[in-house]
Amino acid sequence: MTDNSKIWLSLAHMGGQEQRFVQEAFDTNWVVPLGPNVDGFERDLAGYLGVEPGTIVALSSGTAAIHLALLQLGVQAGAEVICQSFTFSASANPIAYLGAKPVFVDSEADTWNMCPTALREAIEDRIKQTGKAPKAIIPVHLYGMPAKMDEIMAVAKEYNIPVLEDAAEALGAAYKGQACGTFGEFACLSFNGNKMITTSGGGALVCRTKEQAKRTMFFATQARDNAPHYQHSHIGYNYRLSNVCAGIGRGQMMVLDEHVARRREINNLYRELLSAIPGLSFHTNPNEDFDSNYWLTCIVVDVAVAGFTREDVRLAMEAANIETRPLWKPMHWQPVFEGAPYYGGTVAEDLFEDGLCLPSGSTLTDKDIKRVSEVILELHAKALVIST
Ligand SMILES: Cc1ncc(COP(=O)(O)O)c(C=O)c1O
Repeated sequence: MTDNSKIWLSLAHMGGQEQRFVQEAFDTNWVVPLGPNVDGFERDLAGYLGVEPGTIVALSSGTAAIHLALLQLGVQAGAEVICQSFTFSASANPIAYLGAKPVFVDSEADTWNMCPTALREAIEDRIKQTGKAPKAIIPVHLYGMPAKMDEIMAVAKEYNIPVLEDAAEALGAAYKGQACGTFGEFACLSFNGNKMITTSGGGALVCRTKEQAKRTMFFATQARDNAPHYQHSHIGYNYRLSNVCAGIGRGQMMVLDEHVARRREINNLYRELLSAIPGLSFHTNPNEDFDSNYWLTCIVVDVAVAGFTREDVRLAMEAANIETRPLWKPMHWQPVFEGAPYYGGTVAEDLFEDGLCLPSGSTLTDKDIKRVSEVILELHAKALVIST
């Protein structure tokens, strides 16, 4: 009998120790948004990324982390913030929370991330048009692929604009041996259910200094002034991570290396199984400077060569009870950001039209990956028959 059970794109994957930390939170009544698990999780993350302890703040989501970073970078109503267009909307939404305006920049073809040339063009044109430099730059390490950080940081430095890295999908990835999330003034991480590790929902802000981390904590806990009563001189937020969820995170940190290894293994297996298909290419480390965690394995289909489209693949997968997803629709094509300035060409647009994310979660077996690959191999076989 053929196996028709659902294959999901990327599911949470528990390691076994998570409940021990969660139980501890209950046993000690630390069922609040602070406590030993939050502290421990932040310490574990700092150790993993190789940054100073006390510079990472665990938050309720990656989106909250981006929001609090932009706030601290002085982004206010009317200001402009440059953001990679090819990304999930959470990279850009916090710009709007602050009443600021996003300026979108295209990707380059190697990494699919922010193009340093288009970035420079955007900054120069915004200065020309508005008389002011944008307040921040948000490059994204999309699908776990490091952005070209040397070049992006060089442009940012030249114009003295701070960088906020969106490393939501990039825990475990590195550029020139340095962990993604440690290049910018700030970086966000996400522990949403589909990420490299999960806290069911959660995120963190990686700060450059302990001072910034303290400030982050202040804003994340309703911006309470130092007084015995409740006094507030700033608008605050309720963005801290629960000590219960942080317990899941501590357990997950124990298996993070295994998760990264398995996602890379899955990526390799897809490449092996699909290597003979013409017109099919993979999101690939451009050279040895890049070390993607391959959070999701992504393919691009060139219909003229393959004889089938990305949509053919997606629909065939759906029929086979397999979840796939088109690559992110660029932000400059999103109705909600209509009219926002955009710089670059059609790299992001083309990727959206022709690209697909394949099931890549670390819970998947080799048999699952073979079943997914089989769907594409069958499409290829049919295309061959039609063309002969
Ligand atoms: C690129 C990117 N940025 C930001 C986020 C936001 O993270 P969260 O869902 O934890 O708010 C996500 C994931 O959801 C993401 O994929």
